[in-house]
Amino acid sequence: MESHLVDIGGTASGEARLEELAPQPLLTRDYEIRPALVYERLRDLHGPVAPVDLLGVPAWLVLGYRESLEVLQDDAAWPKGLENWRARSEGRVPADWPLGPSLEVNHVLIQGGPAYPALRSAWDTALRPFQDPRQPQAKRLRNAVTGYADELISLLAQGGRTGHADLSAQFSRPLPLMAASHLLGFPGSQGDDALMDMWRVLDAGPDAEPALERLLVTLGDLAAAKIEKPGDDFPSLLVAAHPGLPVDALARELFMLLGMTSDHVGILISNTVVEVISGDREGGVRTALSAGMVRETMNRVVMRKPPLVNFVPRFAAEDTRLGKYTIRAGDPVWVSSAAAHADPLFAGQMTTGSSISSRAHLSWGAGRRQCPARELASTIAMAGVSRVFERFDHLELALPVDQLPWRSSPFMRGLRSLPVRYELAGQLPDRSPVPVADVPGVTGVPEVTGVPNIPDAPPVPDQAANRRSSLWRYLAGLIRSND
Ligand code: HEM
Repeated sequence: MESHLVDIGGTASGEARLEELAPQPLLTRDYEIRPALVYERLRDLHGPVAPVDLLGVPAWLVLGYRESLEVLQDDAAWPKGLENWRARSEGRVPADWPLGPSLEVNHVLIQGGPAYPALRSAWDTALRPFQDPRQPQAKRLRNAVTGYADELISLLAQGGRTGHADLSAQFSRPLPLMAASHLLGFPGSQGDDALMDMWRVLDAGPDAEPALERLLVTLGDLAAAKIEKPGDDFPSLLVAAHPGLPVDALARELFMLLGMTSDHVGILISNTVVEVISGDREGGVRTALSAGMVRETMNRVVMRKPPLVNFVPRFAAEDTRLGKYTIRAGDPVWVSSAAAHADPLFAGQMTTGSSISSRAHLSWGAGRRQCPARELASTIAMAGVSRVFERFDHLELALPVDQLPWRSSPFMRGLRSLPVRYELAGQLPDRSPVPVADVPGVTGVPEVTGVPNIPDAPPVPDQAANRRSSLWRYLAGLIRSND
């Protein structure tokens, strides 16, 4: 009879249980600095699926491209939903597990089970008008993002036409937050403060916890307001597509939107800017960009440096062979798009500049649970990146590209900062910023010089509201320290 035992580097058997394999921690200093090496070491040791320790909790990390697709494309065999997690039901996941708070929020990204299909379908419906370029909502969003980009660039260039900036903190991160605020339909400067709280939550610093509490209250209030009095925004469209969605459930979905939009789109913008200004090996990116191929450039960037490097867990529905191991029913399985893209099976077929193979990448996921907001995210990022290259005559990295600082979490990887030297284009922007009154959640730029007066100017922004806005105060603080 054929043996099912596999010799894994002489140390383990393919039939061994996850817990018995004494997995090594994934999130080490090495992982922070050179994740690709960590993935390769794991691949050498274990093949396409490796046992890892995620901050004290064992899990399977899927490193193989083929195996990743197998998991992502078979939702019945590998469902999401923490209720499927054996170790959790057996009380073996510590109550203070650092990843608990992000995974225990039961929104569409995490959820499995019978309630999921209706929720996902409502998301698709609610996002549609923002993703269809012919719809007024999509046009308004694009214009608003371009306007925000202009405001942010004018703000960072307040000190002069030339200077230094952290394009991440001063542009790539706030821009998608502002876009998210537009999508959420925040009234007044309340949204602006919520954005700053989201930023604190994402940075997971000492003030993250009170910020999260405030943010959830704000989003709860927003959800209740939109149910009561719907508008032309995402929350209202989501409720219309999912009548009866309770206030707290809606608030969780809004939290998810804010998080996904701000972090991942911000990473995509920064990575694309770096790709363009540092050029690729063929020096083709600038040409591609000027030839109007921003999207293709971004597609390459998103594939080479996926913002979402590891996906939230799925669970084996039954004992299943994957790679060299048998994954037991209820074991957590994390697909790593970053590792799968480095799999020789995928990477080997890819040639630099090729746009055909890049379509098979996993950066937006695969199967029925792939990202429903790909178009939206790309539109926001493209509007931002395009505006950067229109408004700056000259932009160069203030550090060698291989010394740019990265930040990693178990889920994402992006630049910690993007230091640049810039020279603003000589002429004023060729399009006016979007009237402040049309921009939900953004109440105007305080004391900005160099922003052209708009002929049909909207009402003057409320300066008191400006002063209240923690986001703008924060951004203005970055300018002062920018000499
Ligand atoms: C560059 C930006 C983004 C990237 C790279 C990205 C990537 C992804 C990936 C890889 C998944 C699949 C995760 C999995 O299979 O477990 C996903 C799911 C999802 N994304 Fe995005 N995303 C981005 C932006 C956004 C934005 C802006 C939104 C909302 C407006 C969004 C909403 C969602 C939702 C709701 C899901 C869950 C879908 C489901 O489980 O059915 N994403 N995203």
